Amino acid sequence: MQVFKSAQELSIFYNSVSSVGKSLGFVATMGALHEGHLALAKQSQSENDFTIVSIFVNPTQFNNPEDLEKYPRKDEQDIAMLSAIQVDAVFLPSVEEMYGKEVSSESINLMGLDKGMEGDYRPGHFQGVATVVRRLLKMIKPTRAYFGEKDYQQLRIIRHVADIFKLDSEIIGVETQRYPSGLAMSSRNFRLSAQAIVEAKIIYQSMHWAKENYLKYRPEALKEAIITRFAQSSLVLEYVDFADDTNMQKITDWQEAKSVRIYIAALCEGVRLIDNLSIR
Ligand code: PAJ
Repeated sequence: MQVFKSAQELSIFYNSVSSVGKSLGFVATMGALHEGHLALAKQSQSENDFTIVSIFVNPTQFNNPEDLEKYPRKDEQDIAMLSAIQVDAVFLPSVEEMYGKEVSSESINLMGLDKGMEGDYRPGHFQGVATVVRRLLKMIKPTRAYFGEKDYQQLRIIRHVADIFKLDSEIIGVETQRYPSGLAMSSRNFRLSAQAIVEAKIIYQSMHWAKENYLKYRPEALKEAIITRFAQSSLVLEYVDFADDTNMQKITDWQEAKSVRIYIAALCEGVRLIDNLSIR
């Protein structure tokens, strides 16, 4: 497995891949890898001749400096995990490599897809994500790029970015990988105690309950029922919302919605966890 730190080194790898007309799969990550990330890499390996994974904790997508500082960093362990599954290359750029001297987001028209849910609770977050993903896709030029449904609003925004900038990569969404309890795998789980990991399953349980029962309630009443469930737990609910998969608009009436996905963000021992589930 090759490890690259600069765009220049990367272009050598890129030339060797494209000169033989082979396909390249790409997985963008912020490291502290877990089985969820590896599922993306494995799908890429099964669908492409070569797979490259990037590890870059992108400063512009953190609206809270403390969250950026506390974000787990495990480069050595990550490289060992990727090497064990035989990924072809890892790209580990520095902040300077990605941003030069000006560490700030571009202003990209996200057409309102960044309104609601994470967009409302993390101002500027999606401009940071859009900026870095656009740059990574331009540098790496993969045939296919893999992103998790775990961050569904992010996936929708990345599809839009690839579209408006006519990036020549197919964007592929991968199902959320979960523990048997239903808890979604996340780098942030590394910061939770064993007890909190048990309690955090209320997120998936509530979403699953919503999927089974949503037609018995109007959206507002379903929200209230979930708020009540969380009030009886040790987690602090930040939001619960229902939105359409295509335009990300909030749903106020089931009849009018083509697709329905439930979104939850909650604090567990002060760690912010997010999840979503398609309910129709
Ligand atoms: P990160 O949180 O490291 O996630 C990297 C990729 O792994 C994302 O596409 C995310 O949706 C996916 N992922 C994380 N947990 C998953 C799970 N349990 N099941 C399936 N996929 C999962 O998302 C980011 O990094 C960043 O915003 C990034 C896109 C790299 C831009 O900086």
